[in-house]
Amino acid sequence: MSSTGKKLGVLLSGRGSNFLAIASSIRDGGVPGAEIAVVIANVPDAPGLQAARELGLTTALFESKGRKRAEHDADVAACLREHGVDLVILAGYMRLLSPEFVQAFPDRILNIHPSLLPAFTGLDAQQQAFDYGCKVAGCTVHFVDEHLDHGTIILQRTIPVLDADDGHSLAERILVEEHIAYSEAIARVLSGEYAIEGRRYVRVRLS
Ligand code: GAR
Repeated sequence: MSSTGKKLGVLLSGRGSNFLAIASSIRDGGVPGAEIAVVIANVPDAPGLQAARELGLTTALFESKGRKRAEHDADVAACLREHGVDLVILAGYMRLLSPEFVQAFPDRILNIHPSLLPAFTGLDAQQQAFDYGCKVAGCTVHFVDEHLDHGTIILQRTIPVLDADDGHSLAERILVEEHIAYSEAIARVLSGEYAIEGRRYVRVRLS
C-alpha cells in the first residue's frame, strides 16, 4: 500500500484517547499521507464520538445494542466503503467483529490491545497482568483476524511493572505507550514496507 492519500476509518466505543492521539499525530505529520475519513461509534454517548464531532470530522453512529452482529457489521462495512476507507482502526471498539466483516477487509483492520499478546486477551488486560504478577507489561498493535486479540502482531511497546503500581497506575502508564504505538503502527502499515510471513510481520524496504 502506498502512503499517499490513505483514508482511515476509526471505530470506537468509549473515551477515544487512542483516536485523539492518532488525530494529533496525523495533524503533526506523524502518519504521512493519512487522513481520518470517518469516525464510527456503536455507543451513542461515547465521549470519543463527541470529540470527533468537535474536531469537525465526519462521524456516524450505528448503535449495536440489541442488534444481530452480522446486520450491525454490514451497516458499518457499508459506511466504511461509502467513505472509501483503506484501513480500519479499532480504537477501543469493545465489540467482537463478525467473520464477514473481517473477511471484507483482509489485513486492513488494526487493533490495539493493552497487553503483551498473546498474554491477557479480553477485558481488563492491564489488571490481569498486574494480578498475575508480571514484571513487564505493555501494549500490542495487531492485524485483526477472526479470533479475539489474535492476528499478526505489528508492534509492541513494553514498560516495567513497578512495586508501587496498582492496576490503575499500570493502565495509565500503558496508555501512554498505546498513544505512541498506534500511530507508529499505522504509519508502518501505510508505508507498505512490510511482509507477512506466517504469523510474522517483517519490515522490508521498498526499492
Ligand atoms: C485502550 O486501553 C485499548 O487498548 C483498549 O481499550 C482502551 C480504549 O481506550 N482496548 C481493548 O481492550 C481491546 N481489546 P480509549 O477509548 O481511550 O482509546
